[in-house]
Amino acid sequence: MSEAIKDQIIIGKDLFVPLLDEDTIQARVKELAAEISKDYEGKVPVFIGVLNGAFVFLSDLIKNVSIDCEVDFYKLSSYGDEKISSGRVTLLKELDCDINGRDIVIVEDIVDSGLSIKFMEDLIDRHSPQSMKVVSLLVKPKSLKYNVKIDYIGFHIPSKFVIGYGLDYMQKFRNLRAIYVLNNQSS
Ligand code: IMP
Ligand code: MG
Repeated sequence: MSEAIKDQIIIGKDLFVPLLDEDTIQARVKELAAEISKDYEGKVPVFIGVLNGAFVFLSDLIKNVSIDCEVDFYKLSSYGDEKISSGRVTLLKELDCDINGRDIVIVEDIVDSGLSIKFMEDLIDRHSPQSMKVVSLLVKPKSLKYNVKIDYIGFHIPSKFVIGYGLDYMQKFRNLRAIYVLNNQSS
């Protein structure tokens, strides 16, 4: 089932090496789905994915939850085409469903500074949901600058740029099944 993992990806002067292989990611996604299914038993949560990055993780996550659920998306832009966050977030797409009184699970691919999550929480709060939790496949704990609580975390990773499994560099490499980390980054 697992793809033959590439041992390196070279993009211009940048060298990316494997950080998390497909089987490791899939096993953890199943654990997170089981935990969420247990916590939301008898409820019908709305999983809100943050486009574009989170669509791969959200897809695998919901395929593994055993409860009924709904799905919607926000689209945010913060990184542009760079490897460092611009520090600004713009809302590119609003929700389609009414989340008033609903149980919300925000689904993120990665939390870096926490700005995107903070921004989302503020947006969602205005719709008066019943509850709101956050699941992120990846968290860079040393990069966190905003006071956000991530309820379900797939993996803690170093504060280095990563690609694959939904995460892009200049909009490419989202289709990789494994996650790769920039090897020649100092911090
Ligand atoms: P934050 O707002 O600083 O927490 O950044 C979160 C968003 O930036 C994520 O949803 C990603 O879209 C993007 N991002 C953060 N770190 C990376 C990375 O290492 N690779 C690709 N995108 C990233
Ligand atoms: Mg994202």
